[in-house]
Amino acid sequence: MHYEHIEVRPIAGALGAEISGVDLAKPLDNRTFAEIHQALLDNLVIFFRDQTLTPDQHKAFGRRFGGLDIHDYVGGVDGHPEIIPVIKEAEERGKNFGGIWHSDVTYQEKPALGSVLYAHETPPYGGDTLFANQYLAYETLSDGMKAMLGGLQAVHSAVKAYGPERERGRYKSIQVAAREEAKQEMVHPVVRTHPESGRKGLFVNGVFTLRFAGWTEAESQPLLQFLYQHSVRPEFTCRFPWRDKSVAFWDNRCTQHFALNDYHGHRRAMHRVTVSGDRPF
Ligand code: SIN
Repeated sequence: MHYEHIEVRPIAGALGAEISGVDLAKPLDNRTFAEIHQALLDNLVIFFRDQTLTPDQHKAFGRRFGGLDIHDYVGGVDGHPEIIPVIKEAEERGKNFGGIWHSDVTYQEKPALGSVLYAHETPPYGGDTLFANQYLAYETLSDGMKAMLGGLQAVHSAVKAYGPERERGRYKSIQVAAREEAKQEMVHPVVRTHPESGRKGLFVNGVFTLRFAGWTEAESQPLLQFLYQHSVRPEFTCRFPWRDKSVAFWDNRCTQHFALNDYHGHRRAMHRVTVSGDRPF
């Protein structure tokens, strides 16, 4: 792809590119927007450095790609219900938000198109985010496995992340609700066709997928565990080292991500907006 309005520099062989030559705080003209959109489709996750964004500018950038979701279980920041805080305080020693490989909100009927994460405060080291290319995860399976998975659906729910048995008050600066409704189940194809690229990708993850539809959990687990491990093989990934004012925008339809929790004693504070998606097919 030839770009005229932005520069696009891949950061890894599998996915991920850093975009420069654009100020996301300003309204994007249609041609620049079209190139950023294309860069997202080509690279699956795109990064920007040195962006100074107010919450309104952050939301305006996300809105160029679609409506913004209000998270079902995570409270928004003051005055901006569409922005969730992804914050780990220096004194927190426990788990971090997003510290398991996953795609966002796949328990929904229409899981997110993507998320735009903006770094307000980053630790002096660590706190990188890893991303994994789910097209490659699918394409590298054997023909036999592809044929079997092509006929399968998987059951997703929010129960493990936001169900009533979830440990309360896990995060100091993120308000997370734990509710009975998180047990509701949603069925999606295991192999998803991307609505824009037309490519097939694996669409199961260890946070929200419970089992294959029509199979028991015990029957499903061995194959799901294989798929979870396979889908994040190192050669399918990239790793983004954050700095203050960096932005990451991932295509949630064909990637998984994982927030590394290796910076205890330091604060990491991000804001996330989530762009609405459509029903997987
Ligand atoms: C998330 O899963 O949305 C958080 C990712 C991160 O903090 O790097």
